[in-house]
Amino acid sequence: MIKVLSVFGTRPEAIKMCPLVKEMELCSEMESVVCITAQHRQMLDQVLEVFEIRPDYDLNVMSRCQTLFDITAKVICGLKEVLEDSHPDIVLVHGDTTTSFAAALAAFYCRIPVGHVEAGLRTYDKYSPFPEEMNRTLTGDIAELHFSPTTQNKDNLLCENIQKNIFVTGNTVIDAFKTTVRDTYVFENEALNTLPFGEKRFVLMTAHRRENLGKPLENICKAVLRLAEKYTDIHFVYPVHLNPAVRKTVFAYLDGKKNITLLDPVSVADMHNMMARSFLVMTDSGGLQEEAPYFGIPVLVMRTETERPEAVEMGTVRVVGVKEEDIVAAAEHLINDATEYDKMAQAVNPYGDGHASERIIDAILKWAKEEK
Ligand code: UD1
Ligand code: UDP
Repeated sequence: MIKVLSVFGTRPEAIKMCPLVKEMELCSEMESVVCITAQHRQMLDQVLEVFEIRPDYDLNVMSRCQTLFDITAKVICGLKEVLEDSHPDIVLVHGDTTTSFAAALAAFYCRIPVGHVEAGLRTYDKYSPFPEEMNRTLTGDIAELHFSPTTQNKDNLLCENIQKNIFVTGNTVIDAFKTTVRDTYVFENEALNTLPFGEKRFVLMTAHRRENLGKPLENICKAVLRLAEKYTDIHFVYPVHLNPAVRKTVFAYLDGKKNITLLDPVSVADMHNMMARSFLVMTDSGGLQEEAPYFGIPVLVMRTETERPEAVEMGTVRVVGVKEEDIVAAAEHLINDATEYDKMAQAVNPYGDGHASERIIDAILKWAKEEK
């Protein structure tokens, strides 16, 4: 029996770790223990509810307007007690958040091996995404096992002289669709049930990144406002992140407009099913760049770079930067040119076949046997 402690704390980590936790719960050779840091509180609990996961430990670290220092310090200190209490054989962390890096560091301090899920994505710009690029790189340096969604991610690690225990598994977000996506889905959020999906064109948007706070987010809002005012037949839906800095800007620019619906964060099931019914996704999120291509929905990435080049290379995702003019021009191109739109609107999925969790479990079991 191998004891696996999974640690996660934000919405995107939870969406991608819950399918793996569910699969580990079914594995007779594993004991699965879950510690949430609750770097996010409400947005994390929303995901746990959808996947029906009850954590064994909850560090409850979130505070309003928390800093990177707050999160890092609380997670490292909180995990010391959890690790001493639970004695796992391996700690699993996900991706690039401060929870992931701090948890990996805490496990390293206790000399417990770390498995890194979603390993090897890179922009090679230390400050973008900030602090995620460094979080992911440093977690990779600490990790013993690397679960890379794609071969490009694996190649990045090989270039960094990480040679051992890299497994190409696909991304567990594709596994999550088995729980969340239904053809006959009825939205939990009543406001969504009143919107005429299928009759109108819908643009689903999100923006929250730390490096976009301030001027870039203002540019994004101004661009969306211009588009909404010009194209009154198109409806914009924006579930707004709970970060007060994000909400202040977004509500100042976009609240009260007829064809813009601002919502509190919606459940991941609502989100995935709404995405499947959208015309276009405009976002600075990492996860949405992986999800929308699966449904054949074009994505405009409102960032200057991406650590997820696969769907860009396949043509469904375009990186458009954070200047108002550029965002408007890229969106208008797709709104007005059906040929351009059709070229992008291809169901493309470089991120796996929905069996990433099984591959991760197989790799852990194999590694554990070799270690003994
Ligand atoms: C974090 C991650 C980022 C990820 C994002 C996903 C880091 C450094 N950043 O950024 O990689 O893309 O999550 O959303 O790890 N808040 C709430 N309730 C919640 C969640 C957040 O009120 O459920 C508010 C709090 O005031 C909190 C603030 O949002 O202080 C910011 O949260 P934080 O986790 O620090 O940063 P994110 O921008 O969410
Ligand atoms: N998401 C969600 N509800 C929302 C907005 C996003 O469930 O209201 C999901 C989305 O489908 C994706 C993930 O949250 O799976 C992305 O998380 P986020 O944008 O917070 O972080 P990032 O992907 O940028 O790290």
